[in-house]
Amino acid sequence: MPKRKTDIYKTLKEEHGKVKKMLKGILSEKDGSGMEALNGIISDVKKELEAHMGKEEKYFYSALEEDDDARKLIFEAYEEHNIVKNLLNNFDGTGAMEDRDQWMARVKVLDDMVLHHIKEEEGEVFKEAKKFLEKDQEERIGQEFENDRGFGETEKRSEEQSGRTEDK
Ligand SMILES: [Fe+2]
Ligand SMILES: [Fe+2]
Repeated sequence: MPKRKTDIYKTLKEEHGKVKKMLKGILSEKDGSGMEALNGIISDVKKELEAHMGKEEKYFYSALEEDDDARKLIFEAYEEHNIVKNLLNNFDGTGAMEDRDQWMARVKVLDDMVLHHIKEEEGEVFKEAKKFLEKDQEERIGQEFENDRGFGETEKRSEEQSGRTEDK
């Protein structure tokens, strides 16, 4: 039997799914969590997103830049990454003194931008990538993605923290 291939598109979708879930978790949080806990979660989101975007730029976007059809889309994606990085940096140094509503509004805008970016990535960018990349390139990028640690680092810790997670 052939060795199971690494599916870069599946890996990317999984990472997107994790980040979306974390952001959704913050936004659906009732007033129970203090600002300190919320800041802890957002700093995890920041670590995960920075790791994800870094790997995308290094392995995925860099390959797609070679494609005339994907080039413009990829430049747009880089710009969106920069916006997301700036939005994430806005959380630095915000702590217990932060107005909760203002902080949540900032998360909402981050969430909107992330969702928009993921939608375009999984739509237009994946479509061009599937046309342009050879199977062995897809395989290599998938492998590079999985070997480059960083994403998922905070997962274990947040699982430990949310010991109060209830099964529905
Ligand atoms: Fe991206
Ligand atoms: Fe992405």
